[in-house]
Amino acid sequence: MKNIVVGVLTLFIVGLMVFTAMDDAVFHGGHQAKVIEDFGDGSNQQAANLAASPKEKSDREKEDEALKALRDKAGNAGIFKVSNEYKSKCASCHGANGSGYQNGKPMMGPPLFGQSEEEIYKSLVDFKAGRKENMVMRGLLIHLEDEDLRRFAKEIGEFPARAKEELN
Ligand code: HEC
Repeated sequence: MKNIVVGVLTLFIVGLMVFTAMDDAVFHGGHQAKVIEDFGDGSNQQAANLAASPKEKSDREKEDEALKALRDKAGNAGIFKVSNEYKSKCASCHGANGSGYQNGKPMMGPPLFGQSEEEIYKSLVDFKAGRKENMVMRGLLIHLEDEDLRRFAKEIGEFPARAKEELN
């Protein structure tokens, strides 16, 4: 099972590299050539723009890749056992396994998978106290006691370990 996951992940990463390489080629030839065409031989400002844009793009790509990696990490975690209270109270916005994604689309809540018990607990306390502002989370937590927050935090903090157990 582990081997399959690693294989799929490797294929995905290689695919992404190929895609990135192709995309870059199109970008240089297509978009930039067109910009040069449109603006003649160009001022310093345009030269600066041209120099800056590929970097911007690669930054954005890096961000996309990081997001994809996180999604994969959680996505590959597959389905492991979660409590009924997580399922009924949290999964609708954060995903059945905390990935924050459903069928490849981002859900309303951010990914929780991979965050530690302390991180989750702190977020929950901050939402409840209004230090971290979010109407949805606050409304949800206002009815929960501190021990409930600890229980949720403990459970979500265990997600990676649970996923690993499921894979072995
Ligand atoms: C109706 C949708 C919804 C439900 C249900 C929900 N959340 Fe959230 N949650 C959100 C949204 C939206 C955010 C992002 C808030 C922000 O950062 O402004 C969030 C943020 C969080 C965060 C902070 C994550 C981070 O990385 O910043 C934690 C922790 C969290 N939720 C835990 C829970 C838990 C535990 C439950 C179940 C008790 C739950 N959520 C149920 C919508 C929801």
